[in-house]
Amino acid sequence: MSGPERRLLTFSAGAPHWPDEVLAAAAAEFTAFRGTGLAVPELGHRTREWATLQEEIEGRFRRLAGVPGDREVLLLPGGPTWQFALLPMNLRSPGTSADYVLTGHWARKAFDAARATGPARLAASGEADGFSRVPSPETWQVDPSAAYLHVTTNNTVYGTWMREIPVDLPAPLVADATSDLLARRLPLERFAVVYAGAQKNLGPTGLTVVVVRRDLLDRAPGGLPPILRWRDHAAARSRLNTPPTVLAWLLGRMLEWIEEEGGLDEMDRRTRERARIVYEALEAHPDVYRLPAAREDRSLVNVVFRTRDDATDRELLAAARARGLVGLEGHRSVGGLRASMYAGMPIAGARRLASFLHEFAERSPA
Ligand SMILES: Cc1ncc(COP(=O)(O)O)c(C=O)c1O
Repeated sequence: MSGPERRLLTFSAGAPHWPDEVLAAAAAEFTAFRGTGLAVPELGHRTREWATLQEEIEGRFRRLAGVPGDREVLLLPGGPTWQFALLPMNLRSPGTSADYVLTGHWARKAFDAARATGPARLAASGEADGFSRVPSPETWQVDPSAAYLHVTTNNTVYGTWMREIPVDLPAPLVADATSDLLARRLPLERFAVVYAGAQKNLGPTGLTVVVVRRDLLDRAPGGLPPILRWRDHAAARSRLNTPPTVLAWLLGRMLEWIEEEGGLDEMDRRTRERARIVYEALEAHPDVYRLPAAREDRSLVNVVFRTRDDATDRELLAAARARGLVGLEGHRSVGGLRASMYAGMPIAGARRLASFLHEFAERSPA
């Protein structure tokens, strides 16, 4: 394809590549929803049609992610940053503190949000290593009386992830799994709460899925406004106020595709395969590419790398764009380069990137 019709392949960390099939199916359904005579944005959230669709979406998510039966699934408006604030409000009862494992940019934001409204402390930090590795769970110093222990399962900015999810921790484990939920098999039964912004593996920006153990919903203090309280959202089946119906519908479209493609096992396999292809290409040229994350903690969804200097990074970005590959800029807080490959990225996309990386390295003087 050429000209305006040409579809780029995006490796952006925030607005992911969408499968062509999902885009086509969504485009077809957008103006005519299931014979209702209504377009998707015209569907009222109090209608029977919407209730049915929402149940389908939730059921599919439960099946795909392996959500234990005693968990509530909430579909909440806004990105995961909202949950950074809501989480301590809902789980930290008066007189208790919350523990955090600091593994990067988003983990810090979560910690800062908790500190803004009450006591919070660090159980472990990877800062001394420049966040190039995730502190091993054996080194965490968890306060057994903490209301919860917060971790970030995948660090989108630094390109690291937790290889193992620990068991038998002294405090309920809470995770921001925004960038790896449904990209790999996470043992959801080990988490008291898992939340994920949909904008990576689940599709649209501006929507967050919260999976919370039901018995924890009663912890929220009574004085909290209902809109900030998970318990109220759960009781209202995520329709406490007017929900972002179009976003939820898009999320549903993405989940349907994931299920058709083979579900979580297949997503997990593709994640490993894509990462293998791209890391191998980068490692084949150690004179040109540098990989700052510790090998054993490397993320398989966000491949963070650099060339020898900023000017060569910029050259690479321009050359990649000319080949139809975009979104390879590193996060603005760290610079460098990053290839984010979420559930919707085809294996062929990773191959295209790998062949470009080989080509660029071969013509770039050492
Ligand atoms: C792991 C993680 N948590 C939280 C966020 C924040 O997302 P938002 O800006 O949508 O709130 C991001 C964004 O990329 C992320 O990668």
